[in-house]
Amino acid sequence: MIFDTTLRDGEQSPGASMTREEKLRIATALERLRVDVIEAGFPIASPDDFAAVRAVAETVRESIVCGLARAKAEDIDRAAEALRPAARGRIHTFIATSPIHMERKLGLRPEQVLEQAVWAVRRARQYTDDVEFSPEDAGRSDPEFLCRIIEAVIEAGATTVNIPDTVGYSVPEQFGALIRRLIEQVPNSDGAVFSVHCHNDLGLAVANSLAAVSQGARQVECTLNGLGERAGNAALEEIVMAIRTRRDFYELNLGIDTTHIVPCSRLVSTITGFPVQPNKAIVGANAFAHESGIHQDGVLKSRETYEIMRAQDVGWDTNRLVLGKHSGRNAFRTRLHELGVTLESETELNETFQRFKALADKKHEIFDDDLLALVTDVEWSSANEHLHLVALRVSSETGEIPRAQVTLRVNGEERQLEANGAGPVDAVFKAIAQCCAADAELLLYSVNAITSGTDAQGDVTVRLAAQGRIVNGQGADVDIILASAKAYLNALNKLMDPAARAHPQYGEI
Ligand code: KIV
Ligand code: ZN
Repeated sequence: MIFDTTLRDGEQSPGASMTREEKLRIATALERLRVDVIEAGFPIASPDDFAAVRAVAETVRESIVCGLARAKAEDIDRAAEALRPAARGRIHTFIATSPIHMERKLGLRPEQVLEQAVWAVRRARQYTDDVEFSPEDAGRSDPEFLCRIIEAVIEAGATTVNIPDTVGYSVPEQFGALIRRLIEQVPNSDGAVFSVHCHNDLGLAVANSLAAVSQGARQVECTLNGLGERAGNAALEEIVMAIRTRRDFYELNLGIDTTHIVPCSRLVSTITGFPVQPNKAIVGANAFAHESGIHQDGVLKSRETYEIMRAQDVGWDTNRLVLGKHSGRNAFRTRLHELGVTLESETELNETFQRFKALADKKHEIFDDDLLALVTDVEWSSANEHLHLVALRVSSETGEIPRAQVTLRVNGEERQLEANGAGPVDAVFKAIAQCCAADAELLLYSVNAITSGTDAQGDVTVRLAAQGRIVNGQGADVDIILASAKAYLNALNKLMDPAARAHPQYGEI
């Protein structure tokens, strides 16, 4: 089983917070990918998290929808409440079991932890027959204690037992052996599915997960693009394609529709603003590109000489040329719908359609990724705009200092400012920051071409930090200076939005 936690653990990447609408779009795409379980969030963490899990539970019909809960009454009750409309809902409860976590974080003795785990599973079972239990930091826990707690939670009704390598400390041979030992030593292990959840601090999350699969784990928790806390989680696309490509070795079948992998990966990257590195396995732009003459020659003679997977099997040809200048509103709406985007109001549809027409005037071929970038732009600008770009003028000439003039509407009031910079983007950012008296630290600035060709839209990500919060802003345009200004304003708008959340796991709870 593939358990996707992009919307929960993935969202714990600094700056990857998603809105309810964004989570819904990703959940719809995950369902199309046919993942078995979608972990939609941590309902107790904030009202927004609750609302997002509730919305996913209302929308998704095929995949199981899961909510995370600490082993506490208020968490479990809140998760159950969020999951109430789900066709198939799962409560995932956890408590730490490693000596360091039990002593220093929880201040509990092992016996107390065991008791609380059993109590939590029983409470969750009052709401649903589908209960998952995780001994957090299992990778550094005493295997004998793990056996005892696992036996007890299965006895109490846990139907999935997930073994997390929370801090990414394990190595494959040892982690695989741990899973085998637990399955063999726990007397009632046949009463639950054994699952793994590996973090990538040593770059071993996928290797550890696969080692566990080869030793009997039958659920893998993973995220698209390997998004997640710190160095991230095991990457869904790598787990799925390893098991599928090496069916001869694993002898397992997955229900995943792999042709949706690349579109899903792009959607997550667009929404979170976390670009995918070009040499990333499966979903990186170069994953199927053959550069050396020897390789190209071999592939032309017989694809299998250098390719172990087909690009189209993971959805590389699905960034279809979709619409052009003459496409109408219906075709536009239909394609958005196929991409999992439903615009809530006619006004939003009209605004997005106008932007599409403006883009089609500049760029003849509009691809799916162009449309997704457009929608992300509109969703943010219509919902949360404190700062609005009215006009931008930039001069950049050989031998001259780049200069930008920015006109902004700041909470309804129009202001204009000019600034010099090391380059045109630097000048624009300085002018914007002065214009709205922003005091945020720039952590990241990156530009990627959304499609090929010099008329491609530049997709800009700007990561800002202020007052303990980190946000990602995005902007797309065929003019990358304008795209940069949009991304910077998008990030500033998120920082100014009182409803935007702090880091979901560590918010006020
Ligand atoms: O990494 C971890 O231990 C987790 C648990 C909540 C499963 O994310
Ligand atoms: Zn985790």
